[in-house]
Amino acid sequence: MSDRVSETVTMPMRFGSNSGQSVTRRDGIAKVTGRATYAADNHPDGMLYAVYVPATIARGRVTHLDTAAAKAHPGVVEVFTPKNRPPVVGDPDKKPFMFAIPIEVLQDDTVRYAMQPIALVIGETLEAATEGARLLKPQYEVEPARTGFDAEPAKRAAAGPFGRPAEVVHGDTEAGLSQAKQTLDVTYDTPAQYHNAMEPHAIVAKWDGDKLEIDTPNQAIVLSRGFYAFYFGIPADNILIRSPYLGGGFGSKAVPYSPLVLAIAAARKLDRPVKLVLTRAQMFGPVGHRGATRQRLRIGIDGEAQMTALDHVSTAIVDSFDSSFPEPAANASQGLYNASSLHSLMMVVHNDIGVPGAMRAPGEASGSAALECAIDEMAEKAGMDPLEFRLKNYADVEPGTGKPYSSKALRECYAEGAKRFGWAGRPLAPRQMVDDKGFLTGWGMGTALFGAPMFAAQARAVLRPDGTGLVETAAADMGQGAWTALAQIAADSLGLPLDKVEFRSGSSDLPDGGVAGGSGHTATAGGALHAAGTDAIRRLGELAAADPQSPLFGTGNQGFVARDGRLYAARDESRSEAYADIIARAGGQEIEGKGSAARPPEDAARHAMYSHGAVFAEVKIDPVLFQMRVTRLVGAFAAGRIINPKLAESQLMGGMIWGISFALHEEARFDKRTGRIMNTDLAGYHIPVNADVQGLEVITVHEDDPYVNPLGIKGVGEIGVTGTVGAIGNAIWHATGRRIRHFPIRIEDLLA
Ligand code: MOS
Repeated sequence: MSDRVSETVTMPMRFGSNSGQSVTRRDGIAKVTGRATYAADNHPDGMLYAVYVPATIARGRVTHLDTAAAKAHPGVVEVFTPKNRPPVVGDPDKKPFMFAIPIEVLQDDTVRYAMQPIALVIGETLEAATEGARLLKPQYEVEPARTGFDAEPAKRAAAGPFGRPAEVVHGDTEAGLSQAKQTLDVTYDTPAQYHNAMEPHAIVAKWDGDKLEIDTPNQAIVLSRGFYAFYFGIPADNILIRSPYLGGGFGSKAVPYSPLVLAIAAARKLDRPVKLVLTRAQMFGPVGHRGATRQRLRIGIDGEAQMTALDHVSTAIVDSFDSSFPEPAANASQGLYNASSLHSLMMVVHNDIGVPGAMRAPGEASGSAALECAIDEMAEKAGMDPLEFRLKNYADVEPGTGKPYSSKALRECYAEGAKRFGWAGRPLAPRQMVDDKGFLTGWGMGTALFGAPMFAAQARAVLRPDGTGLVETAAADMGQGAWTALAQIAADSLGLPLDKVEFRSGSSDLPDGGVAGGSGHTATAGGALHAAGTDAIRRLGELAAADPQSPLFGTGNQGFVARDGRLYAARDESRSEAYADIIARAGGQEIEGKGSAARPPEDAARHAMYSHGAVFAEVKIDPVLFQMRVTRLVGAFAAGRIINPKLAESQLMGGMIWGISFALHEEARFDKRTGRIMNTDLAGYHIPVNADVQGLEVITVHEDDPYVNPLGIKGVGEIGVTGTVGAIGNAIWHATGRRIRHFPIRIEDLLA
């Protein structure tokens, strides 16, 4: 009987009771009242403070450190250098997994980038350790730093990040260009950017024999446990990572970095807990960044303004010793416009910098910035409205591969966004609009695109005898609202109100919730939670259907609906019973469900899966001083099922604000003489403040996606930055008639 029941029980896909609601962030009050405990808030007994000493050159060798002076300072407990480094078992130059990077843990005296750790000072207080670090006064043998695109001739990348190929060819773009009626050949530059999460990287490490507990903000806690197991030669099960709250991650907190590994090594060596918190300046070096790109785009169109070729070659600046993460900007051209030939290629130039990595919308942020400006330039050449040009080249199947999209409501995004913005009637030529204060006014647009990946996750769900639920998955809330949206999905799968479900997460001893990255966390961890809840309900249904005393006796073959703590027969809702009553008669044991989620490879092969959007920007520019303001941004996005509109809109706004940042503010500036970054603080590394963010409007367009995953969820975390940068660049052209082919665009560019 139970076999038959489990075959026919329907999934309780009753979204709308919790999912789809704009539930306020459940961790919000704890955060704003200071009760949320971040990693650095932990102070285990006997804890020591670690400060790492950063290299002040970008390339060379450390020849001397005044360890005697540092050790003599009161409160300094130990000074680690390559001469007495605390042991790290795994080879720091080997990468335990694809996403890892080679690390510097004092294995030798080589300096390969500025801010690299060259010593670690441990003190009884932070002040003692900080002063000890200052007293080391490193001396170096300096080699000239390789900085910028001119450091060497660009070479073809061995491979792209995430296992992607360096080159993708569909058709013959050279032929497409030579047959074109009109062509465009432009080069756009994007700068190095550093994640700069509000909460710096931090760790509190505590050993008990060969068991390790660490408090550290981390976007992939179970995966990272494996990394640390590799470095310290212990089983992953011996490691507990707690990461209940992250003050931002943006891709920078998914892998272990040198300073964190060093702190753990020091704690083991000294047999005392150790805390290490990076300073803001130390965030510009060993913890990843978005690499600079130089992108050449060539486009050809025929007499009907139909694209005959889209050729995108992106040269990325990478480090000198790993080179595994060329910013994959050229990918942005592969999935969007219906060009009859497509070519993308990644090239690299090596510099003396820390290893670049994934930063919010890796590839697409930089790539779409250049692509969307180039599209605008091509539309201008064709004498067409940029939206009309994009619609002319709209792809109904993925260009190149010919795969159907799992869903694509981009037309609706264009239409909704254009309507809300008031795009109609925009003058084609630039410099046509002046507002009542005499400010040059321009309107521009860009298409937003980001993939809808899924990773692998597991979850556990429990129905308790009192009728409440418990769900567990080691997910990560970087601030995006995972603790709320995932709990909503879990509550729906269990047929319970949100406040009747306990949600446990953020600890690596729970089932693996997968990586909070790639905008795939809600789909992945949410999918696993949904499957676990469904499994628990299935088991509950089996009990009820087999129990002659239950009103649901014998209804197993019609399936059940789970709602508000009651189980209903699917085709006869007059027959129902409360969970607690079913469980009580069955002996009062908890009912446990298990679930997992991942995308079957055959699903991935069948459809192209992306979130889409359209962003419209208005800028106003002082005609004399050229101060620029983004006065309005309207973004319309289609991203499958939206679990929590308030949080999703907040994510999309955050992405669009990052777009303002990319277009007008952010840039790590390197000193050519030293290879050091000159603006390693938030005074010099500009990001938008409230005054920079004026009108900002987000529309989410309805989209049902039956293929992307069983819940129909895509992602919203990264797409907001794509499209926006180009929209702003294009609006600046429309206001001024000037094409500035690099980001950020600054006053001096318009003055020149
Ligand atoms: Mo993201 S760059 O996948 O955190």
